[in-house]
Amino acid sequence: MHNPIYFFANWKMYLSHDESVALARSFAEELGELSPAKRVVLFPSALALAGVSEAVARSALQTGAQNTYWVAKGGVTGEISAEMAAGVGARYVLVGHSERRHLFKESNHEVRQKLEAALAAGLTPVLCVGDTLHEHEAGEADEVIEAQVRSALMDLVWPSDVQLIVAYEPVWAISKGPGHDEVGLYCDPKEAGQMAEKLVRMIAGLLPGNAPIILFGGSVRPHNVRAYLAEPHLAGVLVGAAATKLESWREIVNAV
Ligand code: PGA
Repeated sequence: MHNPIYFFANWKMYLSHDESVALARSFAEELGELSPAKRVVLFPSALALAGVSEAVARSALQTGAQNTYWVAKGGVTGEISAEMAAGVGARYVLVGHSERRHLFKESNHEVRQKLEAALAAGLTPVLCVGDTLHEHEAGEADEVIEAQVRSALMDLVWPSDVQLIVAYEPVWAISKGPGHDEVGLYCDPKEAGQMAEKLVRMIAGLLPGNAPIILFGGSVRPHNVRAYLAEPHLAGVLVGAAATKLESWREIVNAV
């Protein structure tokens, strides 16, 4: 069977607990009987993870955490572990999202630790990589992405029953606000597709035998999602702002 198309909703810090659970319920009602050809995963705030997982439990929708720490349990004020996320129903976790890397100065080394801890807890990590505008303009994007991927995956024994998912999210293309007008810079789908192809090649060199699933993220909207998904090496999208509203999310998931 072909891989499904992945629609990942990163709700960031846009929604309160009650808004998250209510939106998850609406999604479950509308999109709960997905065809097996589509996989829809919601990534709510840590606060809403249990409630959202419960709200979609009887639907085809799944949930993931936005960030987890690498220690399973202990004196780590303010963090949650991958085990804790798994314990309330999460199946996935975003690792190394650009907002973590840049706002919270997460290093490639920390990303690697989080990725390993996620695997150990039985979660499917979604490794996020991306170049800044400065790196992009300086022609350093390939180099930066390669360093992020290499650090995260080199010499890792990837479990055969876990999918290897990488999201390419150019930092400059990510939108800053929940409004649909506030988009990042436009990333040409061809450019996104080329980076996806490079990622497939890089990963084949690092972890032979693993066919990665590459997602694109950065101002994906109902009007452009089809163009990204038409790229042969892109298997899905990671969506922020446009995934926080029923209407636009429905349009995105139903676009193909
Ligand atoms: P955006 O966010 O769709 O709002 O640009 C994507 C992301 O950061 O995952």
